[in-house]
Amino acid sequence: MKVLVLGSGGREHAFAWKIAQSSKLEKLFVAPGNAGTEELAENVNINPNDFEKVKTFVLENGINMVIVGPEDPLVNGIHDFFLNDENLKHIAVIGPEKAAAQMEGSKDFAKDFMARHKIPTAQYKSITSENLEEGYQFLESLKAPYVLKADGLAAGKGVLIIEDLNEAKNSLEEMIGGMFGSASATVVIEEFLSGIELSVFVLTDGESYKVLAEAKDYKRIGEGDTGLNTGGMGAISPVHFANEEFMSKVEERIIKPTIDGFQKDKTPFVGFVFIGLMKVGNDPFVIEYNVRMGDPETEVVLPRIKSDFLELMVSVADKKLDQFELELDNRTVSTVMLVSDGYPEAYAKGKTITGIDQVSDSIVFHAGTTGKNNEVVTNGGRVIAVSSYGDNLENALTKSFSNAEKIQFEGKYYRKDIGFDLK
Ligand SMILES: Nc1ncnc2c1ncn2[C@@H]1O[C@H](COP(=O)(O)OP(=O)(O)O)[C@@H](O)[C@H]1O
Ligand SMILES: [Mg+2]
Repeated sequence: MKVLVLGSGGREHAFAWKIAQSSKLEKLFVAPGNAGTEELAENVNINPNDFEKVKTFVLENGINMVIVGPEDPLVNGIHDFFLNDENLKHIAVIGPEKAAAQMEGSKDFAKDFMARHKIPTAQYKSITSENLEEGYQFLESLKAPYVLKADGLAAGKGVLIIEDLNEAKNSLEEMIGGMFGSASATVVIEEFLSGIELSVFVLTDGESYKVLAEAKDYKRIGEGDTGLNTGGMGAISPVHFANEEFMSKVEERIIKPTIDGFQKDKTPFVGFVFIGLMKVGNDPFVIEYNVRMGDPETEVVLPRIKSDFLELMVSVADKKLDQFELELDNRTVSTVMLVSDGYPEAYAKGKTITGIDQVSDSIVFHAGTTGKNNEVVTNGGRVIAVSSYGDNLENALTKSFSNAEKIQFEGKYYRKDIGFDLK
């Protein structure tokens, strides 16, 4: 098979790493990719949101399958673009159509979906400039802290959690006024759920599903979960508190009604469902849906899949996932993200990376890297994810941390406490 992966982060390097091991692979391309994918595949300088360019490339190179890494091409309708084109419609696309991608593209849509299909989530109200007064009243009816979410895609920055009621009212008005551009023209106000977070990754062909694994990520820049939010500083899988009893609640109360919901709503979903959860007491509540794999969660979830990944993807495309025997690795996998000093605010690029060849017993997934004059240099805030297997969490993390030490670039920073709350 000839496969095109869209995206350029650690998630896409992990996809490429797993696909490159498949006996079904004839040729792998990644657009635009990074210095890590370059070693396993041919990088193609195409923006995944430029569908016409993707089309030309796919047709000229006889691509059989497109795996979409990030959310924006999905929300922009890349799958629909393929289905609506006579020359492309036979090519498999892994990722939902635009209608179902709204589960991530609009938080209001997702909340409405959960209400319709009776999926446990925080109480909420959606507010625009038309019903601002109702927003104030709803805030008054809630207890602090107050959760305000931009409805649309805001690159992980669109959620405010505010202690003071008046401040929350002001922020509500500012959000609607354009704090996050048109993404916050509608704001979802939510009841605050107190508990511990984790994510569950599900693969579906639209009819049946497989639970891939659960993972916990670490979003804050600072140790002890302090400071600004980032794209993710590390992750681990499995998550010990997601025991059999809890996971069966997740399956019965959330996964099954979600997959059924897509069918009832006639919004086909082929691909990865990322379910962000809060464990409140012993019960799961949905915080959000994403319509693709997470980053850095992919860097711990994919290493736990033993099965041939392209065979798995083909079974999804052919709607035969129910017949696929998914084999998972029981070991723990941890990943530690090396980032550029200053991230998630301004940071420098183009710093030479050395020491990757010194790494042993970990997998180095490139995130923001590029090749330049035969060197690998930094090209993003999140630079490299170091993933490791272990018999337990401690063991996996020890390897990730010791290898994180060996990789060098000017301004390297990483959290030395990934997994701290689970030991
Ligand atoms: N209802 C809620 N109660 C408590 N915390 C929440 C709630 N909704 C969101 N959060 C916190 O805010 C973070 C971001 O919210 P989320 O809905 O995942 O938006 P996004 O990932 O698009 O920024 C969550 O990971 C969680 O820590
Ligand atoms: Mg989130």
